[in-house]
Amino acid sequence: MKRVILNKMSYYGAGSRSVLASEIKKRGLRKIFIVTDKDLIKFGVVEKVTAILDSAKIKYCIFSNVKQNPTVAQVKEGLASFGSCGADTIVAIGGGSPIDTAKAIAIISNNPEFSDVVSLEGVADTKNKCVPIIALPTTAGTAAEVTINYVITDEQNVKKMVCVDPNAIPILSIVDAELMLTLPASVTAATGMDALTHAIEGYITKGAWEMSDMFELKAIEMITKHLPTAVKNPSDVTARDGMAVAQYIAGMGFSNVGLGLVHGMAHPLGAYYDIPHGVANALLLPIVMEFNTKSSIGKYAEIARAMGVSVVGLSTEEAAQAAVKAVKDLAIEVGIPEKLRLLNVKEEDLKSLSKSAFEDVCTPGNPTDVTIEDILELYKKAF
Ligand SMILES: NC(=O)c1ccc[n+]([C@@H]2O[C@H](COP(=O)([O-])OP(=O)(O)OC[C@H]3O[C@@H](n4cnc5c(N)ncnc54)[C@H](O)[C@@H]3O)[C@@H](O)[C@H]2O)c1
Ligand SMILES: [Fe+2]
Repeated sequence: MKRVILNKMSYYGAGSRSVLASEIKKRGLRKIFIVTDKDLIKFGVVEKVTAILDSAKIKYCIFSNVKQNPTVAQVKEGLASFGSCGADTIVAIGGGSPIDTAKAIAIISNNPEFSDVVSLEGVADTKNKCVPIIALPTTAGTAAEVTINYVITDEQNVKKMVCVDPNAIPILSIVDAELMLTLPASVTAATGMDALTHAIEGYITKGAWEMSDMFELKAIEMITKHLPTAVKNPSDVTARDGMAVAQYIAGMGFSNVGLGLVHGMAHPLGAYYDIPHGVANALLLPIVMEFNTKSSIGKYAEIARAMGVSVVGLSTEEAAQAAVKAVKDLAIEVGIPEKLRLLNVKEEDLKSLSKSAFEDVCTPGNPTDVTIEDILELYKKAF
């Protein structure tokens, strides 16, 4: 049996945040708890949203203590802050880090038996829907606004916990490219490569089927087209909007079918060294793709095609190699570092990283079954 869960309503397009106030009022929601991060305040992104609330006289509090790879402690602090704000709705403004933090706060508020946060890891048996979340993504990467997932770092056990819960999905998403114009080139590149990783892993994962394939192939095509321009010309609204929609479409697929070993191996790198999620994925993607070639060979030819590579006259094997090369070239073009050693990863940690990656929730979705030794070899290759 297959199942598809998507958020109920989304708006797209530059300037689409203008609907926020009327959507809040239409639903009879009264007070807003904004979850965001400090850089988004500094870059004036939060102000673009609060201006709309101000002019509609909608009350709000702001919680901005969210860092990249958000932690259990930050979720607990956010919960306390949500309690004292007295809001009935959460508006998440940010990349995956603020949106995921918002999801954890919203789910625990209505399911207080999970207030230790760590018991939410994996598929938690929450009984109640979360506090209503309205998500406004400011990166084009995670698609957290449409997924049933959120990722929180358990700092005590040095582990990124992937939490999967249909009760945590936002009621409304507003995918407004104007909120992404200030995203620095390096973060645009990393988050865009995260989206490409979602699309490729979601396309070849064990649970993939016709409907998810449709989403992922379109996302691969759009990311290949728009990412280089979004990195080189940050104010190009067409490229920003193309990326915003592409990462959302990738999320419509992967949220329903799972991911694979790239994410399984990227999560420990985030937990151990705080490496940005997109950078870790981008670096590992071509290496893990090579490893998966055998089990996904037919699909790799489709990836090559979606990336604009002419596969006419190529054997399936050559087309598959072309797909891996196209991904590698794109990562280089947008300036992703090529080796883990450049990111301060310690060689002596590779063994324990491999164990963590083997136990990650995403790893079983990989099309090729892996052992801890396989993973260690892949980390060594990336090192
Ligand atoms: N929920 C999901 O389905 C899902 C999927 C993949 C990854 N994740 C998780 O999401 C997190 C990563 O999220 P992310 O990659 O979106 O990055 P992020 O939210 O961590 O943001 C990265 C940096 O970019 C800055 N930034 C964001 N938008 C900006 C803008 N418009 N202008 C200027 N600066 C801006 C932030 O302040 C931050 O410093 C990781 O923890 C990852 O594990 C979640
Ligand atoms: Fe991701």
